[in-house]
Amino acid sequence: MSPGAAAAATRLAPLLLAALAALPVAAQAPAATAPVGVVDAQRAWQNWTLNCQGCHRPDGTGSSATAPSLAGMVARFLSVPGGREYLGRVPGVATSGLPDAPLAELMNWMLWRFDAAHLPADFTPYAAAEIGRLRAHPLRLEAAAMRAELLQQAARGDSP
Ligand code: HEC
Repeated sequence: MSPGAAAAATRLAPLLLAALAALPVAAQAPAATAPVGVVDAQRAWQNWTLNCQGCHRPDGTGSSATAPSLAGMVARFLSVPGGREYLGRVPGVATSGLPDAPLAELMNWMLWRFDAAHLPADFTPYAAAEIGRLRAHPLRLEAAAMRAELLQQAARGDSP
């Protein structure tokens, strides 16, 4: 490659990356390699479409009328005390029709799919037994207040 072409490629690379990042998540095919705690990414994605995306939208962005955005947000809960438990007890999760094992897989997939950037490096995937324990105590009206408190803590940069 000539020096001129190399320089042009160097200038174009960030633009290309920015263009890729701007693609809606839903437009990208489900990953071939399953993230940690996910046995079958295709199955997790199907469970998402059938059980969650009606409120959260296919790309996890939600809407003010249905559900808050998970995209670029949801894994932040993992870095504040009580956040991991909150995610397993929030009504849409706890009362879903999915059995514990596929629900745990879906949670791990969701965290990676919609907010890999905030996933802690030492993240321990949700296991079926943990999800079973958490969903046995679904949040009700207190979900909104708990959510607000956790997000305030996340904004302050608290760690568990
Ligand atoms: C009937 C609409 C609805 C469905 C279906 C639904 N959710 Fe939700 N979800 C919400 C709302 C609303 C909230 C905000 C907390 C609350 O008030 O319940 C929420 C919060 C969450 C949260 C916590 C993140 C936050 O910002 O509070 C997670 C994680 C989540 N949902 C995942 C899921 C998954 C996974 C499914 C499918 C198994 C699902 N939801 C199905 C409406 C829904």
